[in-house]
Amino acid sequence: MNVLSPVIERLEMDEARLKANWSLPREDARFLYLLARLGRFQRMLEVGTSIGYSTLHLALAASHHHGHVTTIDASTARQAQAAEHLGEARLSEVVTLLSGDALSVLASLRDQGQSYDFIFLDARKSEYVAYLAYAEQMLPAGAVLLADNTRSHREQMADFIERITVSPAWETSDLDTPNGFLLARRTEAA
Ligand SMILES: C[S@@+](CC[C@H](N)C(=O)[O-])C[C@H]1O[C@@H](n2cnc3c(N)ncnc32)[C@H](O)[C@@H]1O
Repeated sequence: MNVLSPVIERLEMDEARLKANWSLPREDARFLYLLARLGRFQRMLEVGTSIGYSTLHLALAASHHHGHVTTIDASTARQAQAAEHLGEARLSEVVTLLSGDALSVLASLRDQGQSYDFIFLDARKSEYVAYLAYAEQMLPAGAVLLADNTRSHREQMADFIERITVSPAWETSDLDTPNGFLLARRTEAA
């Protein structure tokens, strides 16, 4: 596997730290990077920064096509570590870190009229259905949503998976990656 960035490589040398902070498995992170790179998403929103391992992958992809990443986490301590890593990778300008409870921050972004072409969900699994409602208000037709943990936390995500899979507002694919991803495209249906 190619080295994407020395900062990512260094983080990957401390597997215990990545695991302790619920970071994506390496293979899933590479998928996230490639998806963002191929999709050339301009305005990305991540729910669940932790120490910034996934954010580094999104930011690196964004840096190739002048995109931007906004990322939310309730933990200021973990986000401070993410800020440090992004700084080391010279990617700080590509990322806006928002600290706070995801549901409050999402409501505020929605109320500001923000819209995105890509949303990555990786926070509290029991809240995914609520995150989905915000995503539906902030993603136009053609935009993409990726939700983590469909293999590792499938039961906790059952309502979300059921809802998005049957909805005419989404075209979906359940991906069998290490943690499991639900990949979805917003359709033209309201
Ligand atoms: C699985 S980790 C994110 C891992 C990160 N995406 C990565 O792969 O490097 C989940 C993060 O979501 C945050 N989180 C969980 N529930 C949240 C909530 N309701 N609002 C904001 N952040 C939340 C936690 O603080 C934690 O840092």
